[in-house]
Amino acid sequence: MRTWLSVLVFAGLVWPAHNAHADVAQLNTLLQRNNCVACHLIDKRKYGPHMREVAARYAGKTGLVDQMARKIKNGGSGVWGEDVMPPQPHVTDDNARLMAQLILSLDSR
Ligand code: HEC
Repeated sequence: MRTWLSVLVFAGLVWPAHNAHADVAQLNTLLQRNNCVACHLIDKRKYGPHMREVAARYAGKTGLVDQMARKIKNGGSGVWGEDVMPPQPHVTDDNARLMAQLILSLDSR
């Protein structure tokens, strides 16, 4: 009984960390496949913001996934400065939403 309890506690500690790691790996793959890495890395600035900065900026706000998915497809400027993000018409709606979700839920620390 006590063994099972500690297994559960241990799983509870490990699972969220593992999950976050899997999300980052998935986001990385999507950013590469959709050519976002020409400008964006997850942890380091290249052109425009890096993805943890984006997560930090919108931390605590909800209901932004659709708006962010549109921005990913349409591009834009003026939020992070003068640099322009060109439209990304090759990105499917599903992938735009998925990337928006994964970016916004990144750990921004
Ligand atoms: C040619 C360079 C370039 C490419 C390619 C690019 N971006 Fe951007 N991205 C930018 C720039 C510049 C900004 C800042 C725009 C602004 O200030 O509004 C930006 C902003 C963003 C933001 C923050 C939007 C906001 O309003 O805060 C996200 C999220 C983002 N890009 C995701 C992506 C994804 C996902 C892809 C791949 C499909 C991608 N970008 C491809 C240059 C690029």
